[in-house]
Amino acid sequence: MSGMQENLKDSLSNLMSAIQAAKIYKIEHPKFEDFIDRAYKSLQEMLRDRIELIIGMVEGELSIEHDIFFDLSQKLRPLITYLHKNQIERIVFHRDFKREELINFISFLIAPQKERGRDVEESLLLMGIKNIKAGKIKAMEMEALSPESGEKAMDFLEKYENSLKIVDKYTDTLLNEEKLDSLELRFNVVNFLENLLGMYQEFLDLTDVKRKDLTTFIHLLNVTVLSMYISSKIGFSKDEVLDLGIAALFHDIGKLHISRELLQKKGKLKIKEFSILKHHTDLGAEILLKYADALGPLPAVVAFEHHLRYDLKGYPKLPFSRNPHPVSLLISQCDVYDALAQRRPYKRSYSPLKIYEIMMKGEGKSFDPKLLYEFFRIIGVWPVKTIVRLSDGRIAIVREQNENDIFNPKVEVISPEEKREFMDLAERKGSIKIENSLDPYKEGKKYLHLADSEEEISFH
Ligand SMILES: [Fe+2]
Ligand SMILES: [Fe+2]
Repeated sequence: MSGMQENLKDSLSNLMSAIQAAKIYKIEHPKFEDFIDRAYKSLQEMLRDRIELIIGMVEGELSIEHDIFFDLSQKLRPLITYLHKNQIERIVFHRDFKREELINFISFLIAPQKERGRDVEESLLLMGIKNIKAGKIKAMEMEALSPESGEKAMDFLEKYENSLKIVDKYTDTLLNEEKLDSLELRFNVVNFLENLLGMYQEFLDLTDVKRKDLTTFIHLLNVTVLSMYISSKIGFSKDEVLDLGIAALFHDIGKLHISRELLQKKGKLKIKEFSILKHHTDLGAEILLKYADALGPLPAVVAFEHHLRYDLKGYPKLPFSRNPHPVSLLISQCDVYDALAQRRPYKRSYSPLKIYEIMMKGEGKSFDPKLLYEFFRIIGVWPVKTIVRLSDGRIAIVREQNENDIFNPKVEVISPEEKREFMDLAERKGSIKIENSLDPYKEGKKYLHLADSEEEISFH
């Protein structure tokens, strides 16, 4: 690696760490100060023999002056993705830039997008940042650099696939016993939280469509999103939601280890092999304990406890009884819900009502009663986007839950089409109810195109 490349790598990794630290800690935190100092110093170093340092991000690759650094791009992926998401394709540091400006620039970067002006360049000036510029690469420059570049909005599918890649990467890290950058992991999970929170239904849609790809990864990601969503709704702090998300992400990591071995065997899983599979709990805990310094003890606790059940009648068998950690109970509840909601090659998925009934039977046994009620209060019996038949024969789609009346959500009637309307079933006092839900693969299929309404939904 050339000297300049080395310097650039240092500068940008320090910048990335400073952004990550700023997202996780407060700006006054010593960790943040430390990264800022380092980033500032290395950027200054690079500006010793130039007036401006122009860093570009084109099509996911990093460029400086006229070189594109594929090598570095790989290492700095989180930074590039983050800047891309924030519509920043270019950062220019002027030789006179001050440490203060760098701090302000980072505060700007981590502020929620809606809180800042539309024009990045203008906003920076307003914040008194004169010597750092950032924004889009002008169309012409862009064309010159990459012939078929177009504005590609990061759509949901892309986000989902990126998240899967992240899950893949971290599970690999752990399985191969490589070093884990916990700051980077937290940063990525923060981004999960911001992007995907509340999108569990969309997740289910995608995993159903892409049924062939159903793997432990998808399950891990689903359980993570669902449990982060539920926990944030029941009042966990952002930090707690993050810790829980990381624990959820790894709850079945032991399974991956085992199934890798089992997969190499020919033929179907035998009962004996299933009992081996049960060891994914202690095996997972063992793997995660090695990372306790980086991740804290919670992921190991959850991996160990997530099949224990509320009444401790699950596995593994404990030599003495103790209550499972509340986070284990929450994650295991989401785990079961996701397992029931997924279509698997060997079973059909259950209807939402059936899932509700199955899970309610586990009240006080598999599940903590209080947590179980909270869960359905939030997600409803028929989750948002379920296609249902109403008692008057019309077809509707669930749009929003009523937390006090989980059987009567707010719906949009979609068929017959000329009678499209929004309706709060809770206000109908039972005169119109949900009769049943329609399987989106069978009778519900023909209504699917009506379900994606472009209209703004508003309830009062
Ligand atoms: Fe499990
Ligand atoms: Fe699981």
